[in-house]
Amino acid sequence: MALINLLINHQNHSVNVAPDTPLLWVLRDELNLKGTKFGCGQGLCGACTVHVNEKVIRSCVFPVSAAVGMTITTIEGLSTDGSHPVQQAWMEIDVPQCGYCQAGQIMAAAALLAEKKTPTDKEIDQAMTGNLCRCGTYVRIRKAIHVAISKQERP
Ligand code: FES
Ligand code: FES
Repeated sequence: MALINLLINHQNHSVNVAPDTPLLWVLRDELNLKGTKFGCGQGLCGACTVHVNEKVIRSCVFPVSAAVGMTITTIEGLSTDGSHPVQQAWMEIDVPQCGYCQAGQIMAAAALLAEKKTPTDKEIDQAMTGNLCRCGTYVRIRKAIHVAISKQERP
């Protein structure tokens, strides 16, 4: 066990866990941030997607020690009031079915738009390809990403 300090959603947290504990376990079990989901546990489905230094990572296979000194954002921290363009678009298009994969989908889409305001369809496909949806909401996800693109403030 080790005392590990983390910056998550603009707040400092200290947890006493083994350094190789997956970040997902720390988020859900230690900090009660349950918006990030457990799917495969092997980095294959994207349900556990969060941002570390604004990049997408699979928190189920990301050791918590690797997140020290980094900026971590979970679905709870994407916006305080659901006003992020991706969240707004998801609501407008009514994307989720069971909802289980959707936090990961939203985080993947948000990271893409943070990196590139107007991605091409190919870039959208590349960014989203690792986020699986058992309910098959892919068409609505693509549609919502295009809506989110249009909702962003232009520089
Ligand atoms: S639960 Fe992490 S990628 Fe599936
Ligand atoms: S909405 Fe059910 S798994 Fe994606």
